[in-house]
Amino acid sequence: MSVHKPSDIKKITTHQLQEMKNRGEKIAMLTAYDYSMARIVDGAGIDVILVGDSASNVMAGNETTLPITLDQMIYHASSVVKAVKRALVVVDIPFGYYQGSSGEALRSSIRIMKESGGHAVKLEGGSEVKDSVLRILSAGVPVMGHLGLTPQSIYKFGTYTVRAKEEVEANKLLEDAHLLQESGCFAIVLEKIPAELAKKVASSLTIPVIGIGAGPEVDGQVLVMQDMLGITKDFKPRFLRRYADLHSVITSAIGNYVADVKARDFPNQEEKY
Ligand code: KIV
Repeated sequence: MSVHKPSDIKKITTHQLQEMKNRGEKIAMLTAYDYSMARIVDGAGIDVILVGDSASNVMAGNETTLPITLDQMIYHASSVVKAVKRALVVVDIPFGYYQGSSGEALRSSIRIMKESGGHAVKLEGGSEVKDSVLRILSAGVPVMGHLGLTPQSIYKFGTYTVRAKEEVEANKLLEDAHLLQESGCFAIVLEKIPAELAKKVASSLTIPVIGIGAGPEVDGQVLVMQDMLGITKDFKPRFLRRYADLHSVITSAIGNYVADVKARDFPNQEEKY
């Protein structure tokens, strides 16, 4: 098992991420949605915490990311921000709060920054969100892009299978990645695309490219925390490495607690006032 010593950087900024790419240091990013877990994640040395709209799935139990609201994202993000000392906190703008117009995108971003204290926003899409990216950036809010499998468009795709396997879609993705970079995005997430394509994108862009199911030759990796800790049991895509089996650990701890309560073994003499 590899042990990572967090670098001496006191606070990660978008500028630090760019420097990491420049010197070839990989960027480690994870999702978090609440104070307690964000404290652990930040303390363990993660570079970027994503308050992802995957909160819709893993926290709220929805089938897709579509139902989560801006208020709910702000609630999650403000809890995370209170816990974080070092990581850069990026907050997803949820479905329905930026697609209408660039003005709407700007208003949503300003609410996220003002009400949660997050450090940057993320949105999904390429050329179709260019005006929004420019408008958000004009207010001084850093923007992370997201291409490939974009879960907010799941009903357009129809499935969660690998994207951009065909040449036309791969070319469009490469073009979109350049357009996001030229528009001023500080980084881009590539989700579930062929590793060769991800490598091509990462090597042709100057900004950091963070992959999830995009192979090793990108500038960093992101996973959903509940998946990599083995809290979610049934989600088993090929790209997911589980670093713990917390489902079993928690189930066994709770089983022991239930047994102790039933057996009148908890609380004992030392555990009462
Ligand atoms: O919402 C999320 O967790 C994400 C990651 C999968 C990148 O967007």
